[in-house]
Amino acid sequence: MDPRIDPRIDLARLPRHVGIIMDGNGRWARKRMLPRIAGHREGVKAVDRIVSHASRMGIRALTLYSFSLENWSRPRDEVNALMEILVEFLERELNRILREGIRFNVIGHIEDLPHFAQDWVKRAIEETADRNGMILTLALSYSARREIADAAQELAREAVAGKISPDDIDESDVARNLYTADLPELDLLIRTSGELRLSNYLLWQAAYAELYFTDAYWPEFGTREFEDAILSFQARVRKFGLTEEQVATRKV
Ligand code: IPE
Ligand code: IPE
Ligand code: MG
Repeated sequence: MDPRIDPRIDLARLPRHVGIIMDGNGRWARKRMLPRIAGHREGVKAVDRIVSHASRMGIRALTLYSFSLENWSRPRDEVNALMEILVEFLERELNRILREGIRFNVIGHIEDLPHFAQDWVKRAIEETADRNGMILTLALSYSARREIADAAQELAREAVAGKISPDDIDESDVARNLYTADLPELDLLIRTSGELRLSNYLLWQAAYAELYFTDAYWPEFGTREFEDAILSFQARVRKFGLTEEQVATRKV
């Protein structure tokens, strides 16, 4: 057992896929009378900590909300700085990601990103493609409603091409056309900064995810806070529509 991991955590019952809405960078900075961008820079340090710790624990997939489709409407300077911070993160961390056996992945409309950022994203995907540790996914220019609309477009194309019949379309057809088709089921969704909403993140995938909210701003979120979320997840009874009695006698 790794001494850096809280011994109360049952490593055999980890959430397979953890999503995080990394929120509160701006407020963290404002509290310190710093520009918002300083908050984003501090937020990247939290990304480093949580990626390493999640991978060390043996989490299969970690999906971080890094930039939403709606975030393009922020002031130009902030958007530009966020794109630069993304590239700095990949430049700096790619070697460590490779060393830790992490596979890098993205979801969202990557073609919206400036070319210098797209190049780094593609490079990180290619260089880590043969890794079989944790899958680290960044959601970039991501919108869950857009993702579902994209899946609908794809299914319509399949129907027009005669590959499927509209009457046969079921949940698994939608799921296999989502950006997350190759990822495990989302088990735990964390949001920092005290906001109690999903902000257009993984709406389909969150159908039966356990939700965890904390007041900590993202730059303050450390391995302890992450472990608290995992412990909270492990203390819950997931019923999936069944009664408690059924769950208690369910064969796993
Ligand atoms: C989250 O922090 C980072 C991004 C959305 C890119 P915010 O920038 O939303 O921080 P607050 O919500 O203004 O505090
Ligand atoms: C959600 O945070 C997007 C990311 C964390 C990247 P926002 O700060 O953009 O969400 P709202 O605007 O408070 O809902
Ligand atoms: Mg915010």
